[in-house]
Amino acid sequence: MQKGIVKTGTIKTTIQLTGLLLALVASPAVIAADGPALYKEHCAKCHGDSGHADNWRGYLYFARNFTAPKWQAKVSDDYILEEIDEGPRIMPAFKDTLTADEKQALIQVIRGFGGK
Ligand code: HEC
Repeated sequence: MQKGIVKTGTIKTTIQLTGLLLALVASPAVIAADGPALYKEHCAKCHGDSGHADNWRGYLYFARNFTAPKWQAKVSDDYILEEIDEGPRIMPAFKDTLTADEKQALIQVIRGFGGK
């Protein structure tokens, strides 16, 4: 009887520990925002898949070409964040629709277009 109780307890603890470990391993992937996917979903239709704004919306709305080295050199990450929040001209404001993590991930994507 006693043995059985100890065993069950051990199994329970093992399951709980495994769950905890899985949660620890899995959480960074779940929390970290997927910049390229977000960009594709929210931004590419105007700024282009490769950041060149080379599609009809990009031309029609004069969306920013993120690959221009001069532009990359001129703007700060804070400025990019501000523009994402406010949405200049026809661009929608993303202040309340994207989380801080998602916006940071998008800034990285935009920076990645530099010099291409
Ligand atoms: C409906 C079209 C559209 C969508 C969607 C869009 N943008 Fe824009 N974006 C524009 C236009 C137009 C501008 C204005 C360019 C300007 O004022 O020089 C702009 C400007 C910007 C600027 C500032 C450029 C500058 O030099 O001032 C940033 C940064 C930016 N967009 C990022 C994004 C990000 C990130 C997303 C997705 C979350 C996004 N945009 C979605 C059309 C769009």
